[in-house]
Amino acid sequence: MKRVAVVGTGYVGLVSGAGISDFGHQVICADIDTDKIERLLQGEIPIYEPGLKEIVDRNVAAGRLLFTHDVPAAIRQSEVIFIAVGTPQGDNGDADLTAVFAVAETIGKNLNGVKTICTKSTVPIGTGKKICTILEKFNADHHPFYYVSNPEFLREGSAVKDFMHPDRVVVGASAPEAYAVLRDVYRPLYINETPLVETNVETAETIKYASNAFLALKISYINEMANLCETVGADVHVVAKTMGSDGRISPKFLHPGPGFGGSCFPKDTRALLGIARAHGLPFRTIEAAVEANEGQKQRMAAKLEQLVGDTLQGKTIGILGLAFKPQTDDVRESAAIPMIRFLERKGATIRAYDPVANESMRCHFPQVIYCERWEDAVRDTDAVVILTDWNEFRGMDLQKMRQLVRHPRLLDTRNILSMKELAALGFAYDNVGRGIRP
Ligand code: UGA
Repeated sequence: MKRVAVVGTGYVGLVSGAGISDFGHQVICADIDTDKIERLLQGEIPIYEPGLKEIVDRNVAAGRLLFTHDVPAAIRQSEVIFIAVGTPQGDNGDADLTAVFAVAETIGKNLNGVKTICTKSTVPIGTGKKICTILEKFNADHHPFYYVSNPEFLREGSAVKDFMHPDRVVVGASAPEAYAVLRDVYRPLYINETPLVETNVETAETIKYASNAFLALKISYINEMANLCETVGADVHVVAKTMGSDGRISPKFLHPGPGFGGSCFPKDTRALLGIARAHGLPFRTIEAAVEANEGQKQRMAAKLEQLVGDTLQGKTIGILGLAFKPQTDDVRESAAIPMIRFLERKGATIRAYDPVANESMRCHFPQVIYCERWEDAVRDTDAVVILTDWNEFRGMDLQKMRQLVRHPRLLDTRNILSMKELAALGFAYDNVGRGIRP
């Protein structure tokens, strides 16, 4: 059993802390955000993430999971410390490492024995070296420490499952002792034969960007393919499924849509471009993926305008789905944001419904009419647009929708509804890459 501190209680930190405590370790999650820690101490989970409350409650009850805003104390009492604070996009597009470096300084000042310091936050390649320099600078008593890059691959919405059943665990370090510590931390996974990739720090840091950027590239590829399918009369779903049945390609992350969003792909692709630029290297494939993604979001607005076929000024549009993906209340870089901006610019009234993300969007767009049910969001609308593939939308009663809307027009950017049913009900509709226009 290891004594572990996780600094940062966002998606990655909280899920990792809860998961590591579930592996049987003694974990203390620390955050300078006292409000967040207060809520966690009261048993409240500050983010919407399926299954997270259960695993947190179970480990808190077992006494293996604690929360504190006293970050130095958490560091002093732990042998293994994970840095899991945010690395938001800075003004120039690069990752902002202020929080990571601040935590490194706090760790350096509070070293009091041999400790292993692991970075889980997504950081630009080369950051490990900078963290080590900071650790050494503030390590006045020269306590020995090991440094590890341990990137995380969990997805929002399935974070707990992804953490507990990863495809691989990446451990970037230079000392054999550090690999041994991490093998111990991930022991239940290790004995279950989850591959533990032991490599150097730079390789581990690169693997994270290489993985995210490749997935983003795959999405942009299928989105551009979908656009071609529309023009030539092909069905992108059959194309994606069939090309994905080739084991070398895989069908995953080949779902066309309104463009990728979230806190990772948009930020990490831009950061990777910044890293390549800083090294004087072109990264044309990722540049194209980013550009195609922006284009895809604009394309959805153009599709809606075309579907309405008239000025949007004074029209009422129903938006179904605000989160960047289902099973989360996160709206960062969501396709709904450019769509709302576009509609507001055009003078349309927006009624919107998301099963959990209404509140997250309200802070950005208070003038949108937020509804508690999809039925209210589509009522008396001139067109409806689906932007998030929540299961709830798959099961909507379309006949009921037909009765509620003013004009039966529907843009399905996630391709979740039956075109046959929509056509039979008299909807004018559009989608992404299915080649069948109203
Ligand atoms: C992503 C990665 O999938 C995780 O492995 C990684 O750990 C995480 O970033 C991170 O770096 O922290 P996440 O952003 O939570 O996870 O969500 P994804 O499921 O990857 O979806 C990202 C976006 O791509 C969403 O907007 C989603 O709708 C879109 N997407 C995804 C598609 O449009 N098509 C697809 O086939 C898959």
